Amino acid sequence: MLKGKRFAIVGFGTMGRAIATGLLRSGKVEAGQLRATARTRATAERISEGVGIACGTDNAAAVKDADIVLLCVKPKDVVKALEALKARGALAHAPLVVSIAAGVSTPTLEAAAGAAVPVLRAMPNTPCHIGKGMTVVSKGTHADDGHVGIAREIFTPLGRFVELEEKHMDTVTGLSASGPAFIYIIIEALADGGVMRGLPRGVAIELAAQMTMGAAEMILQTGKHPAALKDDVTTPAGCTIAGILALEDGKIRSVLARGVETAARVAGELGK
Ligand SMILES: NC(=O)c1ccc[n+]([C@@H]2O[C@H](COP(=O)([O-])OP(=O)(O)OC[C@H]3O[C@@H](n4cnc5c(N)ncnc54)[C@H](OP(=O)(O)O)[C@@H]3O)[C@@H](O)[C@H]2O)c1
Repeated sequence: MLKGKRFAIVGFGTMGRAIATGLLRSGKVEAGQLRATARTRATAERISEGVGIACGTDNAAAVKDADIVLLCVKPKDVVKALEALKARGALAHAPLVVSIAAGVSTPTLEAAAGAAVPVLRAMPNTPCHIGKGMTVVSKGTHADDGHVGIAREIFTPLGRFVELEEKHMDTVTGLSASGPAFIYIIIEALADGGVMRGLPRGVAIELAAQMTMGAAEMILQTGKHPAALKDDVTTPAGCTIAGILALEDGKIRSVLARGVETAARVAGELGK
């Protein structure tokens, strides 16, 4: 599906790079199919030399021949970039536009891109860098299942892929896109507990990180509810239930749930 398709990656920062790396690693796309753009010539030169992808600062030049445009600029820059592309006629051939910007809705993207342009809103996360990402996609009014299929091909090499309705995208942003930062804090805090008990810092972090990965894999591979898996670890009158009660005293559940809720609310304000 991606064979021979030409990509323009507009904005080549953390996420643009993660997507390009994943595409190339998957073998579904060759470097010659990718063109990237950055705001500054310094970034563009660094990418051209370091990553081996043609990169410039002229968005319209990169987009006018592209079949697929991956918009990877900051939310505040998305509408301006699309409007500038439209004004220069670079979207006249109606390429598929996939925006990964937090908080910028598909109606906003469609209004900026012009009537006939098929638009998808995608929300990946930074673990896409190592093929362990989570990407959720919702489609705009001019996009169809074929376009979602193309997005699936693009993002599956980077991790898991789910399609949801637009109304869920800010929540997705607060959960799976902001979520890695929440988990890093949890891992660091768990490691602190080990350090307090005398473990060397590096060992404590390794134990906490591997344990977190294993617990997550248990949920994904067994399909069991997290509560059932938690019950498997908690021997009556044992140490784990004692630790859980200490966590519950600290309101760990509502603290984490409110963290997601707050991040989702702020995500919805980013594109305004
Ligand atoms: N980071 C995450 O965890 C994450 C997760 C999911 C989604 N996202 C979304 O991904 C998008 C990019 O985030 P990021 O973390 O990758 O940002 P970033 O690292 O700051 O990268 C932004 C890139 O956009 C370039 N740029 C800025 N204005 C441009 C323009 N007008 N035309 C072309 N390129 C332009 C910048 O070029 P210069 O380097 O030359 O300034 C830079 O390469 C955001 O919309 C964010 O909401 C991020």
